[in-house]
Amino acid sequence: MVAAMLGQAVTARACANIALVKYWGKRDAALNLPAAGSLSLTLAALATQTTVTFDRALAQDELELDGFSARFADTARASEFLDLVRAAARITTRARVISKNEFPTASGLASSASGYAALALAASRAAGLALSERELSILARRGSGSAARSIYGGFVRMNAGDASDAAYAEPLASPLADTVRMVIAIVGGGTPKQHGSRDAMEHTAATSPYYPAWLALVPQDLAAAEAALAKGDLEALGTIAEANALAMHASALAARPGIVYWQPATLAVHAEVRGLRACGVAAWATMDAGPHVKVLTTEQDAPTIAMRVKDIPGVTAVTISAAGPPASLVP
Ligand code: PMV
Repeated sequence: MVAAMLGQAVTARACANIALVKYWGKRDAALNLPAAGSLSLTLAALATQTTVTFDRALAQDELELDGFSARFADTARASEFLDLVRAAARITTRARVISKNEFPTASGLASSASGYAALALAASRAAGLALSERELSILARRGSGSAARSIYGGFVRMNAGDASDAAYAEPLASPLADTVRMVIAIVGGGTPKQHGSRDAMEHTAATSPYYPAWLALVPQDLAAAEAALAKGDLEALGTIAEANALAMHASALAARPGIVYWQPATLAVHAEVRGLRACGVAAWATMDAGPHVKVLTTEQDAPTIAMRVKDIPGVTAVTISAAGPPASLVP
């Protein structure tokens, strides 16, 4: 059965997600166990499609990203991830991985969440494994902490768990799922980020005097965000999301040396969001390990926000996204 699967190309598609309560720090780097839980929204506009073929003719794993041979470090990381799949499937065959981001061009947005979620699904199937969604989430986590959440669509909670097999994501039902939108403001033309999230969160945990305060805050933000989701209260959710992102960045800014993702345009978008909110527009800002700003809003208010932020100097692209679907196989 497994032998028959090997050699067949399997394609999967997964969408990126943006955390509303952030994951920032690990309690175990080898197993990629998060120090705390997190909560996110999967986004339809940011998808990755990945094809995996285990091929006996290959001497080593090959990775192609957006039409080009990947950098050595990216290939090595994917290869380490494929080792987990091979170990589970009891095979040693090397794989060819072809991955394409359907992101707005030159967005510079992190693609590790959608990338590793799509790779987990495609590679496990291509290796002859039929994993449950929970097992896929645990596997995707080993590639990238946020990828565990991209196995699911809509709003998703990541459990910190008390063991490796308990650190998985699960979907959260909410009346907000159909009407929520994110306006993604790309700042700085998508130039490569200065500090990758992996190293930056480790450096923050190791050196920031504010990191313990950040960790203490997460459980209460998670509980409040989940209550807001269950009630369908976007204002409560947005307020927590904006405050939580600022707290995460405060811990990073206070690291020694500080990690500063902010550019002038990042601040300008935040100011615009506060101004729009004062005028009654539903808008709350969040940001990750880069200068881009994502604005949580409604279907109704998204076009106004997009129009207002697109002309801010330093904002190079704006995309509106609805909630996205779970990771799936592409026939
Ligand atoms: O999954 P990673 O290792 O790329 O880390 C993600 C970190 C943040 O994007 C800043 C927060 C999050 O929860 O997605």
